[in-house]
Amino acid sequence: MQQPINLDQGLICPVCRLELHLHTPEGRPPRLSCSNMHAFDAAKQGYFNLLTGKGTSFREDGPEMVAARAAFLDAGHYAPLASALAESLAASVHGTSSPHILDAGAGTGYYLGQVLNGLPESTTAIAMDISKFAMRRAAKIPATLALVWDLWRELPLGDASIDALINVFSPHNGAEFARVLKPGGSALVVTPLPEHLSAGAELLGLLGIAGDKAAGVIASMGDSFTLEGTQQVIAPLSLSAAQAFDLAMMGPAGHHLDPTILHERVDAYPGPIELTAAFRIQEFKRR
Ligand SMILES: C[S@@+](CC[C@H](N)C(=O)[O-])C[C@H]1O[C@@H](n2cnc3c(N)ncnc32)[C@H](O)[C@@H]1O
Ligand SMILES: [Zn+2]
Repeated sequence: MQQPINLDQGLICPVCRLELHLHTPEGRPPRLSCSNMHAFDAAKQGYFNLLTGKGTSFREDGPEMVAARAAFLDAGHYAPLASALAESLAASVHGTSSPHILDAGAGTGYYLGQVLNGLPESTTAIAMDISKFAMRRAAKIPATLALVWDLWRELPLGDASIDALINVFSPHNGAEFARVLKPGGSALVVTPLPEHLSAGAELLGLLGIAGDKAAGVIASMGDSFTLEGTQQVIAPLSLSAAQAFDLAMMGPAGHHLDPTILHERVDAYPGPIELTAAFRIQEFKRR
């Protein structure tokens, strides 16, 4: 694939905040570096780990959780959410010739990939997540730089460098989202509705959803954003034991669940496991 020339647009060095540029020397891994000689080489799976200094205290999604997420999402169970996001994002950057998109907490990059399918070919994107296992997968998305980074830190992106962002089931750093978005740029934030997967909570050992998250999201996005609209997406699911296993393992409960016990429970369940996925998309606009 021909590499878009401006894949590194807006990137800044996490050490000194000067611009980072992408170099692709022959026979060596691609490298991001600034003019102060801070350099970050791509891992062999194509992502860049920009985290410096001591490790972060956040708990990344491990390889089993990421594999479960990839299997479940790639099977299309949450396709209605992906379509709704793709449609809203395309509308929000309509008229921008080469949009630059951020997926903050991208996981495997499933939603970003779907969103990019609906945008002009000249679109470029940044996938950011603290999990290197997730970024290994996201690095395969065309026209995308996959960065291992902690969303609670200052983002390695310049002010007003991003046209629109998506933030799906991931931490929302409103102050940094406001800084990196262009004025008028959209932030699409997805959280679960209180009834999300509620029928499977006991069987699958899911963690409860703490009340309704809508007001909390608005508060965490802060005064630089206005809430433009809210959509609900409801997806009925009829799952095999293996699919239900992946669904449980891919979420926050995956940090705690014992895979052997979970397998026993879902295998013992008679017939398909019927659940309802219920999401809220809040569309914010940068003032
Ligand atoms: C529930 S997953 C959602 C992933 C993806 N958006 C999706 O829906 O498939 C939450 C993601 O947030 C990431 N995450 C958690 N804390 C983070 C942090 N402080 N900085 C960056 N990513 C973080 C996890 O590694 C995980 O991939
Ligand atoms: Zn630097």
